[in-house]
Amino acid sequence: MLDEKICLVTGSARGIGRGTAIEMARQGAAAVMISDLNDEGGHETVELVKAEGADADYIHCDMTKPDQVRALIDGTAERFGGLDVLHNNAGVHESDFTSDLTVETLPEDVFEKIFQINLRGPWLAMKYAAPHLRKSKRNPSIINAGSTGGLTGYPNMNAYGATKAGLIQLTRCVAVDLAPDVRVNTYAPASVYTDMVRKFVDAAEDKDAIARTMVASQLIPRFGKIEEVASLVCYLASDAAAWITGSVFSIDGGCLAWCGTNEA
Ligand SMILES: NC(=O)c1ccc[n+]([C@@H]2O[C@H](COP(=O)([O-])OP(=O)(O)OC[C@H]3O[C@@H](n4cnc5c(N)ncnc54)[C@H](O)[C@@H]3O)[C@@H](O)[C@H]2O)c1
Repeated sequence: MLDEKICLVTGSARGIGRGTAIEMARQGAAAVMISDLNDEGGHETVELVKAEGADADYIHCDMTKPDQVRALIDGTAERFGGLDVLHNNAGVHESDFTSDLTVETLPEDVFEKIFQINLRGPWLAMKYAAPHLRKSKRNPSIINAGSTGGLTGYPNMNAYGATKAGLIQLTRCVAVDLAPDVRVNTYAPASVYTDMVRKFVDAAEDKDAIARTMVASQLIPRFGKIEEVASLVCYLASDAAAWITGSVFSIDGGCLAWCGTNEA
């Protein structure tokens, strides 16, 4: 349970970010700040969070812009009277910007953009959030959105995989810097059925085949659910996780546990 904590979720206009914001409210957060590039989706999330009983507001923030990230963090603390939980959720895959996805074809500016959103953005948020989190009396923590793509190799994700691996290591380094005052953890999902994955499946000629292949390397061969990831994020943010910091939690249907396949 989140016991009146004040939370901020980046990239929360849809997907896992929205699901986490709603679950935070269900688990007793006092307030959740919603933030994204997508203002319409962000305002919808605000209403969904309020419907679950928490206070909520929205601040537009492009995670590639340091001044906007700083304004988001300071604005959250000012609006709600502090900050206890930062969920660095905003993230993108190179297929959001190009269909040229291999090392030989990926454009340099796309690599740079993914780096700015997936790795520098969370670092900026942690940098600016740290002074507020250190002041918190409610067991403050940071939870970063990693990926199994940061723990093992997959095709067509040079930039995504590299930035998620970087974020996993950044989690450990920041956990050291902020210990023991602020806990910092990351989680690493395999495929969760959100717009990010839907777009990827829809782009394939044989949608059923690509969907089957995506989950074939899991011991539990289905897509993950947004609620399953949201539960893990809320656990890591809760007082029940008070002795957990600098850790990476796979939430992947067991895909990293074996080298087999369910494909016939
Ligand atoms: N869905 C999966 O299978 C999966 C697996 C592993 C990790 N993840 C990670 O979980 C996080 C959420 O993924 P999702 O599937 O919900 O994605 P999604 O694409 O559904 O949502 C991502 C959100 O981030 C926002 N965003 C994009 N660029 C931004 C920017 N520059 N500044 C601020 N916001 C921005 C988008 O507008 C969107 O609302 C990401 O970090 C992703 O890498 C997802």
